[in-house]
Amino acid sequence: KRVAVLISGRGSNMSALIDAAADPDFPAEIVGVISDKPDALGLGIAASRGLATKSLPRKDYSSKEAHDGAIDAALVAMKADLVVLAGYMRLLTAHFVEKWHGRMINIHPALLPSFKGLDTHRRALEAGVRIHGCTVHFVTAEMDDGPIIAQAAVPVLSDDTEATLTARVLKAEHRIYPLALRLVAEGKAKMEGGRTVYSAFH
Ligand code: GRF
Repeated sequence: KRVAVLISGRGSNMSALIDAAADPDFPAEIVGVISDKPDALGLGIAASRGLATKSLPRKDYSSKEAHDGAIDAALVAMKADLVVLAGYMRLLTAHFVEKWHGRMINIHPALLPSFKGLDTHRRALEAGVRIHGCTVHFVTAEMDDGPIIAQAAVPVLSDDTEATLTARVLKAEHRIYPLALRLVAEGKAKMEGGRTVYSAFH
């Protein structure tokens, strides 16, 4: 499967996916990285790994629809089969989401359905939860709402700060995102009828 990664920033999840895909046994190839932020750190990292990169800033387009249309055109030009959102910080239009239905995944730094949206680690600390984590899910029109593919839990320690908790969750993100992409690329996890359906593991 040909995979394109959408980023807005640092790109550490993108890097974890590039590393995983470097294994000849990995069932997917990263064919390009698209950012809506021209200064995203991840763009430089992707280029240094020999990947095609494209910067498509929102301000170059008259509407959200036109912006997503340009992203879609770039994905088609890359012949992408799957789209992976890795710290892409913008909501995609319903039309775009519909077009990539079942073929687009996202990682969220919380155990969904808890803590959708931003500032998940601060809110988890405020809520006093003892278990936190991250979720990979299929993307649907609602934010952070699609069928769950994989999750990892981490403990919240009594002396955690937002920074220490963020770092612990990020490590888990880097572990499960390649696993989840593998499942989707192999067709072992599919979105069907608003659920993730898994085929038998061998
Ligand atoms: C990650 O925590 C991801 O879950 C969230 O944004 C962050 C992006 O980090 N959506 P990076 O760009 O992958 O380093």
